[in-house]
Amino acid sequence: MKFTAFAFGLFFCLAAAASDPTSIYRAGWIDLNKNGKKDVYEDPARPVSKRVDDLLKRMTFDEKTGQLWEEQMQTDSDITFAGKLKRGEVSSFLDGSVLIESPVMRNKIQRIAVEQSRLGIPLIFANDVIHGFRTLFPIPLAQACAWEPELFERTDAIAAREAAAAGIDWTFAPMVDLARDPRWGRIAEGFGEEPWLGALDAAASVRGFQGTNVADTNRVAACLKHYVGYGAAEGGRDYNTTEISEFTLRNFYLPQFKAGVDAGAWTVMSAFNELSGMPASGNRHTLTEILRGEWKFPGCVVSDWTSVSELIPHGVAADDAEAARLALTAGVDMEMVSRTYLNTLARQVKAGKISEAVVDEAVRRVLTVKFEKGLFDQPFTDESRCPAAFLQPDALALAREAAAKSCVLLKDENGTLPVSRPVKKVALIGPLVDDPGEMLGCWVSRGHADEAVSLAAGIRAQLASDAELTVVRGCDLTGTEKIQKRLDGTTVAATDDEKTSADDMAKAIAAANAAEVVILALGEPVGWSGENSSRNDLGLPGRQLELFNAVAATGKPVIVVLFNGRPLALPRVQEKAAAILEAWFPGVQGGHGVADVLFGEVDPAGRLSTTFPRSVGQVPIFYNHYNTGRPGLGKYVDGPSTPLYPFGFGLAYTTFEYGKVQLSAPEIKPGGTIAASVKLTNTGQRAGTEVAQLYLRDVAASAGPRPVRELKGFQKILLQPGESRDVSFTISGKELGYYDAKGNWLVEPGKFQLWISRDSASGEPVKFELAK
Ligand code: NOJ
Repeated sequence: MKFTAFAFGLFFCLAAAASDPTSIYRAGWIDLNKNGKKDVYEDPARPVSKRVDDLLKRMTFDEKTGQLWEEQMQTDSDITFAGKLKRGEVSSFLDGSVLIESPVMRNKIQRIAVEQSRLGIPLIFANDVIHGFRTLFPIPLAQACAWEPELFERTDAIAAREAAAAGIDWTFAPMVDLARDPRWGRIAEGFGEEPWLGALDAAASVRGFQGTNVADTNRVAACLKHYVGYGAAEGGRDYNTTEISEFTLRNFYLPQFKAGVDAGAWTVMSAFNELSGMPASGNRHTLTEILRGEWKFPGCVVSDWTSVSELIPHGVAADDAEAARLALTAGVDMEMVSRTYLNTLARQVKAGKISEAVVDEAVRRVLTVKFEKGLFDQPFTDESRCPAAFLQPDALALAREAAAKSCVLLKDENGTLPVSRPVKKVALIGPLVDDPGEMLGCWVSRGHADEAVSLAAGIRAQLASDAELTVVRGCDLTGTEKIQKRLDGTTVAATDDEKTSADDMAKAIAAANAAEVVILALGEPVGWSGENSSRNDLGLPGRQLELFNAVAATGKPVIVVLFNGRPLALPRVQEKAAAILEAWFPGVQGGHGVADVLFGEVDPAGRLSTTFPRSVGQVPIFYNHYNTGRPGLGKYVDGPSTPLYPFGFGLAYTTFEYGKVQLSAPEIKPGGTIAASVKLTNTGQRAGTEVAQLYLRDVAASAGPRPVRELKGFQKILLQPGESRDVSFTISGKELGYYDAKGNWLVEPGKFQLWISRDSASGEPVKFELAK
């Protein structure tokens, strides 16, 4: 018989469900190596480990190294890489900056790998789905301000659904890097400065992407990145060296990764940075001893983009061979884009420089992820889901909800906000008021600027039809030389027609003078945060401060809305604005979500997940620092040492009063608990949500100092005007422990302090002891 066994299998499959044209995309036996019988690795009924063993035995060395290489997708990958695909020498494609708008291309490439290679090992398709795919949600730093980890679970589940419909199997998210330096542009992509809260967010995000079964066709494999320490880049300059003590690494930088691993993340990305003397992508201590040894991580580690070959400029490898050897033996399984594994491993194994068992182990981990993702049983994606899966009503509703929940009210003098209706004349001023593309955030994935809602559109939708809305830019976003970032990291000055005319500011002042309500949208360009977008100034670029001063000089109460990807240092704005709403980059429904808060449709309940400095000179400034031996000293002679807004800060449209903290007992017996509670009262005229925050301090710890305060609990509580509620937290050893430099979890008897407060800088501590 002439037709191949594969065709037979396919025919069988199709015949069995002839009435259902999508059945080809559904699970069923696929004869990957086309021998007409079901081999162990092809059998979904067999355990993954057995399938991996069976497949590994059949692989040539070149096929093995092929599984360790990920390449960037090209629009013609099916042609460019056809030879390699047929020889089984590509493991994965990531869709860097090249857009594949449909899953058709993916299936076309996959078909070559599955149908024309010897063993039919499927490719895994990856993408940076960071805060949404087509439906863009607020940037992660913003979502973290909702203090609602389940929000990440919900937004990332939608992101997974849309990405999966486009043929993506694997996202390079969540980014769980602790960040204390707002100069670093990638602070936008993470959860902020708090490891305990960040750990909850990390786990929620993993659950959102992967669900309970990563093989589900609406889910994608998650990737915890960038392992590790990347956020501590010296000077806030991206990719820069980091020096982090093992003690600080264990207690601040690792917990989010551990939480993500415990939540079942299937992959981890090794970072670009040097970490305390050894680049993270060649760091056996973190990649093997901690990740696999201590945490028992079963998945695969992918390098960040060319971070294996970058071991050469880092100065720890002389050439590709050394770089490959260092990274592989450290624990990097898959190399992204650079080809040191592909080009040198065969030679190095032959020469006895690397044992084949090390290569096998890396291949085993990569294959395990592919099996777990279900790719061997379902290599093709259902092309009919795309683009119908995009921008579904539930996704848009969630994007709006998330945009509102991410807003943090930083100032509200004399109840300026919410805008009270009816309002007849609104002036909306600023370079960011009507620029939908600027709302989307730093990883736009497949987001389209023309689908985004600008602040002007959001406000217009809140106003009665006879109300007048005047929209004036007032000035350019970055000054006369608008800097635009290209994808390759170079910059280009704007063309003349993008420069605003000199009299724009006069128009803004006139509009403010004529209006009942003045809203000024200020901030930074969306391209100034994210990768390779560090800043050495944290003020408003261009003439925006001048514009603010001019509008404020009209005497009208000015409502400032901030769009930015990092904390900005805006003491003058804090002084003179009547109200300030931090809106971050709020995503595709940003204008609606922010307007919902401005007009009181949604009460602001966000709290900062990162400290705002008064000036760049204070950086790094974060709440959970160690004490010095001279507390209160070590101040700046030329300005305050306190932040502009502390971690946890955020106002509501009402006010809350905290009573005195009560403890159920003065000490915790070994293995026991105590309760700490406080009476919380809404003392204002409106209903509102407070985020009551529990902080602890271990006064004396044997293995190293504990921070002056550490967040260990919070509750979001909606209270009606005048309503009081007892807010109670249970404290046990779990909240009191910390890691020593070896990774041992210590819970030590002794004195502790405890706060239940509105933010990290307020409240009075009570004392208790953990008994011996
Ligand atoms: C480099 C970035 O650091 C990383 O976050 C991203 O996932 C990869 N490029 C792939 O795009």
